[in-house]
Amino acid sequence: MRKSDRILVTGSAGFMGSHLVNHLEKLGYDVYGIDDLSGGYLRNVTNKEKFTELDLRDRAKVAQYIERIKPTVIFHLAADATEGRSHFTPFSAVDRNLVAYMNLLVPAIKHGMRKMILTSSMSVYGAQQVPFTEDMLTLPEDTYGVAKASMETITRINSKVFGFDYVIIRPHNVFGLRQNIADPYRNVIGIFINRLLAGKNFFIYGDGEQTRAFSYIDDVIPPMVRAAVEERCVGHAINIGGEEVVTLKKLAEMLLEVYFGGKAPKEFQPKHLDARPQEVKYAYSDHAKAREFIGFKPETSIREGLPRMIAWAKEIGHQPFVYLEDMDLTADTIPKTWGEKLL
Ligand SMILES: NC(=O)c1ccc[n+]([C@@H]2O[C@H](COP(=O)([O-])OP(=O)(O)OC[C@H]3O[C@@H](n4cnc5c(N)ncnc54)[C@H](O)[C@@H]3O)[C@@H](O)[C@H]2O)c1
Repeated sequence: MRKSDRILVTGSAGFMGSHLVNHLEKLGYDVYGIDDLSGGYLRNVTNKEKFTELDLRDRAKVAQYIERIKPTVIFHLAADATEGRSHFTPFSAVDRNLVAYMNLLVPAIKHGMRKMILTSSMSVYGAQQVPFTEDMLTLPEDTYGVAKASMETITRINSKVFGFDYVIIRPHNVFGLRQNIADPYRNVIGIFINRLLAGKNFFIYGDGEQTRAFSYIDDVIPPMVRAAVEERCVGHAINIGGEEVVTLKKLAEMLLEVYFGGKAPKEFQPKHLDARPQEVKYAYSDHAKAREFIGFKPETSIREGLPRMIAWAKEIGHQPFVYLEDMDLTADTIPKTWGEKLL
């Protein structure tokens, strides 16, 4: 990637996309952004002149846009990232992930794109042995993960046929300022904080013994750009994210302690609900490859990141949770906070 490149960031009004645009601009790159504002916010867009509201599912409009802008490098982040919900909303999981990506990739190849940085996800590993390493097969456990794994495969194949470079980034459990905290279907830390902002306790699915390694946003964005610049990363999938493995129970304890500045009042203790269907219990990644290729080293502990996110969330205040009117499918096992709109 060079300073003369014309860079397009999709999902640029979203959480990670907006931070990425800011970081690239700070480094002196020429950056354009698109987003349909389905999961992101205009308030996250700082350079409105180079922002276009565009739905990647609209094939004709996307083709026109790409023909006009002719990006040489694309960071693709636009997504329906509601992983757990994707069992119940498979059309959106496919349309906003796989189909949207094809609508972007085809004209981009036609109009001279040299490099694709595809934001995939840890979900492609499914329920394999932790920590996940990049040499593992992709064995997703949900439709979102299937879409991401397919997007990765299509990228690899098309790169061989049409001769562009690519890097696949597999982040996991990112949190921080600007995250969508009004989505009842994803972003566990955001949901927990948003409930507390409404003066209510939050819910934990299952026994809370699920393990995750949460990644602070500032530890994810600069490494993504380094991976885009570093020639050695071309043609590779790379895990990027936090390394401090915690159970959800522990995360909840830490969050309450930070939020209340000590022990939380009794009424704020989390309530446990039945486990979510197909939820992967143990999910975190190994980062040896990122360390070797780009000198990756996460620096922000969960305990350092939480007060920053809480302070920001208190500034924007409680956001009403936004539920879907309908799901494509439902089942008795649908998580209660979704089926009964408990939040
Ligand atoms: N945040 C995480 O923990 C995490 C973990 C793994 C992977 N990822 C991936 O990283 C990327 C960014 O995630 P995020 O957390 O910033 O989510 P986000 O929802 O904040 O950002 C995604 C953006 O894509 C936009 N979008 C959705 N459908 C679109 C469409 N059809 N056309 C145009 N724009 C559309 C949304 O409006 C949103 O602003 C996604 O690809 C996600 O799958 C995120």
